[in-house]
Amino acid sequence: MSQCGLLERSGQDAWSGHDLFFHTRTRRGYARTLIGKSTLEGKSDHQFRTTAIANDDRRLVLEPPLLSSLFATDPPFAAVSARRQSVRRQGSMALTSGQLSEFLFRTLCEQGGRRPYPSGGASYPLQTYLAVNRCRGVAPGLYAYDATAHELIAVGGPGLGLERLLADAAGTANVVEPPQILLVLTADYRRMRRLYEDLSYSLILKEVGAVFQVAMMAAAAMGLGTCPLGCGDSLLFSELIGVDPAIETSVGELMLGSLE
Ligand SMILES: Cc1cc2nc3c(=O)[nH]c(=O)nc-3n(C[C@H](O)[C@H](O)[C@H](O)COP(=O)(O)O)c2cc1C
Repeated sequence: MSQCGLLERSGQDAWSGHDLFFHTRTRRGYARTLIGKSTLEGKSDHQFRTTAIANDDRRLVLEPPLLSSLFATDPPFAAVSARRQSVRRQGSMALTSGQLSEFLFRTLCEQGGRRPYPSGGASYPLQTYLAVNRCRGVAPGLYAYDATAHELIAVGGPGLGLERLLADAAGTANVVEPPQILLVLTADYRRMRRLYEDLSYSLILKEVGAVFQVAMMAAAAMGLGTCPLGCGDSLLFSELIGVDPAIETSVGELMLGSLE
């Protein structure tokens, strides 16, 4: 282990053992095992399914935006790109359900088996939840987003757990006010592992980054504020949705709200 540099060393300039292990298991050249797509490839099934909503069908239908009006009124790409930035302090007037619908449509909605962001093997292992604190037209609570139907499904009401989740996000962004909405991305690791074996977790995290970027560009185009977060509490979130974290666990968080 020492020869391979796997022992934790005290210096800050050395790789930590777990990062090095993760790196060498997910890049070619180090491993003696083959890495890549499994030959036992399962059927890529990315229909909406999460254990959290198995007993709950409270659906909130979202009105999708008119594509023709987006084509006609969107700012040019160069302007959107120049405008994109992390926004931690949000406005006092909360965003509306219409804006939320448009944002979700631009960022996550699945049409014809495709989504606005890339996914390894088009497997789409990520599921989105929304912790709604303040949104005009959507009651506070925890919702799952059905990307194929473009609908929200209530999975939990307001309460201490939701408050902790939102306060945790505010702390991570170093602000006092909790976000109007916190997007939480979860993954079903086991389903990804059937397809990609040891590459699975690194592919999941790369996909989270792709969602972050699409979300930030959509928000910039719409005049909303987003900020990706580097960490969140996976166990707290699993507890909130009532799902075993070994089955579905949170892997990314992003704050969303109106501009000041
Ligand atoms: C993976 C990732 C994690 C981040 N984590 C945090 C975070 O935990 N808290 C925060 O306030 N900003 C976070 N950010 C936002 C960065 O601080 C921000 O992107 C950076 O300062 C550059 O600013 P800009 O996005 O406005 O261009 C994160 C960004 C990325 C891509």
